[in-house]
Amino acid sequence: MKAIVDTPTVELVADKTISDVITKNITNMEQEEPFIVADLADIVYKFKLWKLKMPRVEPFYAVKCNSAPTVIHLLAALGTGFDCASKAEIESVLSLGVEPSRIIYANPCKTKGFIRHAANVGVKMMTFDNEMELHKVKAIHPDAELVIRIRVDDSSSVCQLGVKFGCNVKDVPHLLKVAKELDLNVIGVSFHVGSNCRDTSAYSSAIENCRQIFDLAADIGYHMDFLDIGGGFPGFNGPYASFEEIAEVVADSLDEHFPIESGVKIIAEPGRFFVASAFTLCANIIAKRETVSEEGEPISMYYLNDGVYGSFNCLIFDHAEVEPVPLVDTKYRSVMKSSVWGPTCDSIDCILKTCHLPCMNVGEWVMFENMGAYTICAASTFNGFQKPEIKSVLPVHILQYLQTLPTWPNLLEAFGNQALDFTNANINTENLTTNGEIHLLPHPESVTA
Ligand SMILES: Cc1ncc(COP(=O)(O)O)c(C=O)c1O
Repeated sequence: MKAIVDTPTVELVADKTISDVITKNITNMEQEEPFIVADLADIVYKFKLWKLKMPRVEPFYAVKCNSAPTVIHLLAALGTGFDCASKAEIESVLSLGVEPSRIIYANPCKTKGFIRHAANVGVKMMTFDNEMELHKVKAIHPDAELVIRIRVDDSSSVCQLGVKFGCNVKDVPHLLKVAKELDLNVIGVSFHVGSNCRDTSAYSSAIENCRQIFDLAADIGYHMDFLDIGGGFPGFNGPYASFEEIAEVVADSLDEHFPIESGVKIIAEPGRFFVASAFTLCANIIAKRETVSEEGEPISMYYLNDGVYGSFNCLIFDHAEVEPVPLVDTKYRSVMKSSVWGPTCDSIDCILKTCHLPCMNVGEWVMFENMGAYTICAASTFNGFQKPEIKSVLPVHILQYLQTLPTWPNLLEAFGNQALDFTNANINTENLTTNGEIHLLPHPESVTA
């Protein structure tokens, strides 16, 4: 039994699963546009998993990763903080009723007007990694709570950020001295091991570095009490370090270098962790060309109605790897050398240059799992192709859990403020504990993680 939340309205549909929602849409003759099925339960399970594995670390969700209203509403209701990188992101989070103290403006190189806006709305925490930024903050937001971002080893991450942000550890004393001279309030240290981190030791060595910086800062007169361990946590399970493995190393490392008695508040800025596995994209085969390679091998070229200018921008910006899964029974079809393309008129709009796919027909559908992170947030409508619509699915037992939260009224409003009537619903309480909490079971329909 499922409640379907189709932003901004809520639809309750009995006895449905994620795959039922997909089937319902692809068998609807009027449905031709690409769409995303967002499994909100997966996000709730991720939140629970985080709390279980790293209870000392408060997650501040990185809005940039996926700012779909349902996602940020849900995370706000669950109680995460938010990592914002711009005025617009700060405004969107504040509009949910989130307190400014639950926001970190985690962009070390900020627009002056955005700093002014942060000061006006009461957002105090912000990162920096250079001297100019200190002068800007002094002039515009002298009460800011500054967090120095250091560069750490990001060589084991898919998206390395150190080349752009983070000061070298050797430059920290100078920056802190300048901050002291300017009478600025530096509360702590942050780092980012790079997005999509594949090695647990990146976190442990970065945390160790931070300990040294806390000690060094004390000599300059800063008694720091804030540590931000950034993002990088994987969004689904693959062949590399799992979230659980990273969490264990992080927790041990924090206990060693920042034990509870230190009184240091610890946050992180996870993005992909919360959303990657929750989104499944379904795209339609709008055209097919049969060609032959120079070697005489037949190749099927499939054209989908979403591409690199749309959700698949993740192939470029996020170095993502994607795999089409046919949404038809292909048991008796021959497998062909194929390529998969987006719908625009540009040849860079190629999703897969070479792959092997069962023979597919125009009008059939393929799905791509794990499409929640760094996809629709950076999608364009180039050539007039619209971004996929998001159909959010919320199982009833998760909805029941959400109803127990003090933030439920906000969420109900976000879901379209409809009266959700479960009186006739055959509610499955197996996944609820006696006090209404959800069990942390692997989510039965989660696509991967
Ligand atoms: C400052 C900052 N924080 C957090 C994140 C989120 O990283 P991830 O999605 O890997 O958790 C990013 C991503 O680029 C970032 O730049």
